[in-house]
Amino acid sequence: MVENKGVFRNKKTMITGGVGFIGSGLARRLVDLGAKVSLVDSLIPEYGGNLVNIRGIEDKVKLNISDVRDSHSLKYLIQGQDFLFNLAGQTSHLDSMVDPFNDLAINCSAQLSILEACRNYNPGIKIVFASTRQIYGKPEYLPVDERHLLRPIDVNGINKMAGEWYHILYNNVYGIRSCSLRLTNTYGPRMRIKDARQTFLGVWVRLMLEGKPFEVWGGGQLRDYTYVDDVVEALLLAATSSAADGKIFNLGGERIYSLLDTAKTLVKVNGDGKFIVKEFPEDRKKIDIGDYYSDFTLIKKTLGWQPHIKLEEGLSRTIQYYGEVLDEYL
Ligand SMILES: NC(=O)c1ccc[n+]([C@@H]2O[C@H](COP(=O)([O-])OP(=O)(O)OC[C@H]3O[C@@H](n4cnc5c(N)ncnc54)[C@H](O)[C@@H]3O)[C@@H](O)[C@H]2O)c1
Repeated sequence: MVENKGVFRNKKTMITGGVGFIGSGLARRLVDLGAKVSLVDSLIPEYGGNLVNIRGIEDKVKLNISDVRDSHSLKYLIQGQDFLFNLAGQTSHLDSMVDPFNDLAINCSAQLSILEACRNYNPGIKIVFASTRQIYGKPEYLPVDERHLLRPIDVNGINKMAGEWYHILYNNVYGIRSCSLRLTNTYGPRMRIKDARQTFLGVWVRLMLEGKPFEVWGGGQLRDYTYVDDVVEALLLAATSSAADGKIFNLGGERIYSLLDTAKTLVKVNGDGKFIVKEFPEDRKKIDIGDYYSDFTLIKKTLGWQPHIKLEEGLSRTIQYYGEVLDEYL
């Protein structure tokens, strides 16, 4: 837990992607901690941004419907901010292959624009960037630690890797305090469930709640999962610790699950549901990373972070949430 909760009181914090799944969870926590929160989000329908995500805090945050590719507005939005949680991103691996230039613009070029805006208009800001385990590609060894070679296998991975390294570069060369968290599969209330663009767990939850069978591809693959509140905690810890500056940390899960075990856990938690095990579709197989789970020792040692919410508990909270608001996420 962030021990010095007062750190954020009255602090100006900006969240790009703040109406998305993780960004809105972070916004809720920051509002509770007394921060002055502004959200920057383009609300492009294919991504996870949804105004329902900020229901209840809409009067306590400043919402800027703006695109991080617009360097002109960024220049103004960034000024005076104490913290930037940089979470805006195109998250679909498949979409990055279908439209690589769009992924390049959001996950790479816009990241450079954000950092340039900071360099020119707010060099004292502290930045936490949401990176991804996807940049490791197919693991050479497990669990994957931060020393593992970066060998992304899709366009999204390449652009997120560049986005991450721009942050580290600006820390090292210009002294703009930045760090990066490599997130693994994150799940919880407010994730995108319309389709599998953000996470396969989203579409599994949707189909199950609609009483339809969901598909498990392969089944034997190993994965780790982090509940959204644990990710939020890591973002806050990274923001408040100078030991994080210029560093890159893996996040991870409390346990390793096969996809089949994950599916069984979901059905068990719901008390009902069916799934079909299928071969991996060809277009997905080519950009699939196989088994993956993280070694998160570095963040545990440096910032004292570890995941607390177990998959059963996290899925149970997730199902409860969507049980009440399913229609608003379809
Ligand atoms: N959810 C995961 O499992 C996971 C795993 C690894 C990394 N991440 C990273 O975490 C970050 C947040 O992901 P999320 O799961 O909350 O996804 P999300 O899609 O819910 O959130 C991203 C938000 O960014 C916004 N956005 C996208 N392009 C934008 C643009 N050009 N300008 C302004 N806003 C824009 C979207 O509208 C959305 O609200 C992303 O950068 C993602 O790459 C997430």
